[in-house]
Amino acid sequence: MDFYGRRSIRKYKNIPIEKEKLDELLKVALVSPTGHNARACEFIVFDNEKDVKSLIGIKNSGAGFLETAQACIGVICDGEKAMTWVEDASIAAYAIQLKAHELGLGSCWCHLKERQSVDGKPSEEVFRKLTNTPEKYQVLCLIALGYPDEEKPNYTEENIDFEKVSYGKYGRR
Ligand SMILES: Cc1cc2nc3c(=O)[nH]c(=O)nc-3n(C[C@H](O)[C@H](O)[C@H](O)COP(=O)(O)O)c2cc1C
Repeated sequence: MDFYGRRSIRKYKNIPIEKEKLDELLKVALVSPTGHNARACEFIVFDNEKDVKSLIGIKNSGAGFLETAQACIGVICDGEKAMTWVEDASIAAYAIQLKAHELGLGSCWCHLKERQSVDGKPSEEVFRKLTNTPEKYQVLCLIALGYPDEEKPNYTEENIDFEKVSYGKYGRR
């Protein structure tokens, strides 16, 4: 797994993503670790132009990449079943991003929790309404996907700051 080459990609080629690849992303999300093994995360796939375009405007900033996204996966979690729903859903979302990178796809996290739509409504509510998602589901984010149409450098040793690592006591290097 190449952790250093994964970057947030916000411009995608107009090439559809193969269903097999989307299934690979969903498979890793579905086996992600969850607190108390609650396994309460679920995923809503937007895999055609009409559905992806319906998401435009769900967030009032930092979501311009939805314009060229070829697919999106909405990450939701049953908050009644999982005390650790934020953590569980975040791990699943990152697993999708890592697997996407491995498969040659670019991805970007579009945060929806506690964000607002272009109409000033809570992004979670807009998402629930658009997708008929029941109220008990918490909505964390969308992972936007597509073949990259921008290049970004890999992370290197220069980006790694071991000053943030302590041994045994805070500040002990
Ligand atoms: C919790 C979380 C929320 C994020 N929300 C957004 C977002 O709404 N829009 C966006 O463009 N990027 C979003 N990102 C991506 C970050 O901006 C990105 O990961 C960061 O700038 C580092 O860049 P890299 O992913 O290329 O390493 C989010 C990332 C995380 C982990």
